[in-house]
Amino acid sequence: MTGANRNLKQLARQCQQKNWPENFSDLVQECVGIDLACFYGKRHLKHPVLVAPGQLTVQASQVVKIKESGYAGCILKSAVGEEENGYCSMVFQRKKASWIKTVYDEEDLCGREPIIHWDGRADTRNLDQYLLFARKARSLDDQGFFVGGSLLCHLPGPDEEFHEKEWRFTVGKLQEIGFDTLEIDFCPTLEKESALVEKANILRWYRTVPALVKSVDPGIAVFPKMLNLRWGLDFQLEMASAAVQGGADGLVVANRIYLSELGCTHGGRMLRQQNLLQVREIHRAFPRLPISATGGIYSGRHMAGYLQAGAQNIQLLSYLMGRVKAPFLLKNGYKFQQVLFELFFHPEDGLIPLMMENGCQNIWQLREVRLLV
Ligand SMILES: Cc1cc2nc3c(=O)[nH]c(=O)nc-3n(C[C@H](O)[C@H](O)[C@H](O)COP(=O)(O)O)c2cc1C
Repeated sequence: MTGANRNLKQLARQCQQKNWPENFSDLVQECVGIDLACFYGKRHLKHPVLVAPGQLTVQASQVVKIKESGYAGCILKSAVGEEENGYCSMVFQRKKASWIKTVYDEEDLCGREPIIHWDGRADTRNLDQYLLFARKARSLDDQGFFVGGSLLCHLPGPDEEFHEKEWRFTVGKLQEIGFDTLEIDFCPTLEKESALVEKANILRWYRTVPALVKSVDPGIAVFPKMLNLRWGLDFQLEMASAAVQGGADGLVVANRIYLSELGCTHGGRMLRQQNLLQVREIHRAFPRLPISATGGIYSGRHMAGYLQAGAQNIQLLSYLMGRVKAPFLLKNGYKFQQVLFELFFHPEDGLIPLMMENGCQNIWQLREVRLLV
């Protein structure tokens, strides 16, 4: 066994303890000479793994667990905005799920890669209740842990104007409690509202919303989350271009795919393949645009694929939320910790062994190697 492999084993042992080491990224640097540091926009991250907005970021206690388990940060469940008088134009988005289940891709015989199907949407709380939670969650943000916000407000139909007051009031409230980075959730279940989902209108949303958010405070970093519409890659690129024209600071690529035959959104391999292609092409078209990648990540190799394609960092949800039937390498600890261990240390598919094998000393060097993903 080489010295580097011995060091890797020793490092893995330290992460198998009850508590994930707070100085994990420093240890990785010391033990195997790899710098995991990266960014979300201009914000420094200690490594590239974030928890995506969803049902694991609806309570401050969940965010505490995510932080203790060693993640670089998380994005909170999307708030549904309001005007000052409490009027909420998108109230249909505050829908409580009536069912939720885990499914697996056909070829995933061992149940390693859970996919969530459900009929829920954005956060169900009114803005006052949401802000109570978001304030607590945001207070956990510090140099070693990033807490980003997410929201959606009025999205007009083709012949309507934006309810700007709703956007401004909601963004102002989030900014007051410290959020300086906001994702915009152009929720994929909007495809059910088929009158809204029309090409020119969608492009208008992506062009208009970043400026609307920045009208509250130009210092807020705005990351629209891409819809995965089935109008081909060219349209996805048009959407990205509209967001750039509108002043977006970056993009989240990309939300789940709405499948009308299922009546819900889907993820897994289908999503990963589609999103990987989009990250690659959007990065090629806008090489300086920060991209946070999400969709179908269940291994360090999947992560590496997105980072190689041009993403700054990755976000995951279904792997953490769904039932994983195959055994984890790490037998104890929170599932958050078991997943992180798998992503970093799996001998064939872990990010650190992959980077070592390919001679990458930092995240950016992944862009220069050819990995099998
Ligand atoms: C149950 C569930 C709830 C979600 N809620 C949100 C949300 O509130 N806002 C948002 O932007 N994305 C939401 N998403 C999308 C996730 O943040 C993530 O981008 C997507 O699921 C792809 O990652 P995954 O394949 O690891 O799950 C949700 C996804 C699921 C499965």
